[in-house]
Amino acid sequence: MNVRTQVAIVGAGPAGLTLAHLLRLRGIDSVVIENRSREYVEHRIRAGVLEHGTVQLLTEAGLADRLHREGMVHEGVELLFDNEGHRIDFAALTGKSITVYGQHEVVKDLIAAHEGPLHFEVSDVHVNPSSAVVEFVHNRQKQLLQADFIAGCDGFHGVCRPAIADQLTVYEREYPFAWLGILAEAPPSSHELIYAYSPRGFALHSMRSPTVTRNYLQVRPDENLDEWPDERIWSELRLRLDRDDPAWHLADGPIIEKSITPLRSFVADPMRYGRLFLAGDAAHIVPATGAKGLNLAVADVIILADGLTEWYSSGDEQLLDAYSSACLRRVWRVQHFSWWMTTMLHLDPSGDPYARQLQLSQLRYVTSSAAAATSLAENYVGLPLHRQEAS
Ligand code: APR
Ligand code: PHB
Repeated sequence: MNVRTQVAIVGAGPAGLTLAHLLRLRGIDSVVIENRSREYVEHRIRAGVLEHGTVQLLTEAGLADRLHREGMVHEGVELLFDNEGHRIDFAALTGKSITVYGQHEVVKDLIAAHEGPLHFEVSDVHVNPSSAVVEFVHNRQKQLLQADFIAGCDGFHGVCRPAIADQLTVYEREYPFAWLGILAEAPPSSHELIYAYSPRGFALHSMRSPTVTRNYLQVRPDENLDEWPDERIWSELRLRLDRDDPAWHLADGPIIEKSITPLRSFVADPMRYGRLFLAGDAAHIVPATGAKGLNLAVADVIILADGLTEWYSSGDEQLLDAYSSACLRRVWRVQHFSWWMTTMLHLDPSGDPYARQLQLSQLRYVTSSAAAATSLAENYVGLPLHRQEAS
């Protein structure tokens, strides 16, 4: 069956669904195809920190009612090292805050608000960057989707980036550690996130609601979950989040989800070839330490939506031609911040004592210098998005 649309969007993650919504608000049609089921994408546990600008965008787009009802607004974060906690006051340093709200909750809200064709459980997806034709199978029927443009929002393991692999320069960094993440029915033990640097390795105490917490532990990249029975996870979290405060106690509870995720930095340049535009994890990956993945995906599609709107309203291609360079400016800033947070807070398995002293010096500086704390804070809450105007 042949279908015609303006923008073919491959992938129903935060990037693809936010783009479809922004385009619809501007009268531009799209068809979204997703190879997993609705059930799967709505329950895929991932990260959960939204920058100030992301919340603003979702609010302006009319997508944030539940976010404002159930999201947890945090005006700071804690760095814990040498058994002492140090608060970075986002509100005082930047006038902005973050919101803790699960990524899958954002996806649920986007799907609930979605209007227009959205096909789940498609397969055999093939994209043609020159003709903007997407072929796929849906309900065992071969489909051919003719569009003006393709938005490759199919994540790191999708088909869109490989379709232009020969045109890309790839930059990447693998880290000698991974994150063991758990979701637990336990009340948060602090009002804000705790990033812990400990002699046993990194740990992060985060949350989803007054009754559900999300915790992470630095582990070796080759470790597997069999080595981590629940009690061992809790005792390791207690050790790494420990502090010189008798009142401190890490609440535990039934673990309802656990997984091990590698930490990787990855950038593909350019983010556009022909009529194919890559956005989000399809073009770049950051280690989760900076809580940037979802926010960077949203930043990409804001710039793409502006370019497509300009093209459909005036035929002017300037913004579309500048899409890749405009996105990559922010991508590299976020890459640096995420790499910096990761190397500052994770224990180098080589055990190099000089490196440890450098990390401690960095932590002591960022928690004692207003200038350094402001730099961390403004990157964490999210730098302003430079939206381009057609000249
Ligand atoms: N065809 C159709 N859909 C596909 C295909 C394919 N061949 N391959 C992957 N997909 C879907 C995935 O199932 C997923 O739902 O594309 C979607 C990509 O979504 P994400 O991986 O969430 O990527 P993105 O929307 O760019 O959001 C980035 O997601 O993974 C987190 O930490 C990451 O926060 C970041 C955010
Ligand atoms: C999360 O809440 O899942 C989370 C928070 C901060 C991070 C990464 C993940 O840096």
